[in-house]
Amino acid sequence: MSDVKLGVNLDHIATLRQARMISNPDPIEAARVALTSGADMIVMHIRGDRRHMQEEDLERMRKEVRCFIHLEMAANDEMRNIALKHKPDSVCIVPEKPGELTTEGGLNLKDKSMVKEVEKTIKALSDKGIEVSLFLDPNADDIRTGYKIGADTVELCTKAYSESWGKKNQAKELERLWIASYLVKELNMNLHSGHGLDYYNVRPVAQIEGMECLNIGFSIISRAVFVGLKTAVSQMKEIIG
Ligand code: PXP
Repeated sequence: MSDVKLGVNLDHIATLRQARMISNPDPIEAARVALTSGADMIVMHIRGDRRHMQEEDLERMRKEVRCFIHLEMAANDEMRNIALKHKPDSVCIVPEKPGELTTEGGLNLKDKSMVKEVEKTIKALSDKGIEVSLFLDPNADDIRTGYKIGADTVELCTKAYSESWGKKNQAKELERLWIASYLVKELNMNLHSGHGLDYYNVRPVAQIEGMECLNIGFSIISRAVFVGLKTAVSQMKEIIG
């Protein structure tokens, strides 16, 4: 059995549904399939523009499926209120830029106003027993700031690593993840990773010492188009095991 948990991000099930603004494919049904195929938790990102997951999806997921729910969201009043109302088990705070295709990197914790919002969010959610994770690039300063402001978990952004796959800087990007991981564990925080991980590049990240959870969406849903969600999730789970 694998020690590394698999969080399956179902945003793109909702993307497909939103293309027609009807009720199918239903992320709730997808969650049930994912959970019986090896997913340890369900990940959903409610964006400001609601391009995929809606608040109602989180509400239904909480009421209709018995599972660990991990919500990705920006640090602002609207999202804090949604999280406090529906109580996901954990939240990952991510940066959000209008118009971006997907999250473009970790939080910029050099920005004082961002740190203030993130700290406020950590406090509000932690007070209600919600675990809080910060999506951070693998750099020591941000990780130390995240620790100081009370995050439980760091989710290391694997975007640069994923994009380096097959290129000259691949080993260097993997090394950056390893070094950042040592620091996260030294600070006694939980260690997660995600973004751009697929069936080819995921194993070296799963093998980083202390890695507890990988959050993966796009590659799983893309493969599911051809092989079905059950097979796509179980294959990923097997690789990270
Ligand atoms: N982790 C975080 C914080 C994310 O924002 C995303 C993208 O929504 C993922 C993981 C999953 O990335 P991907 O869809 O590329 O697997």
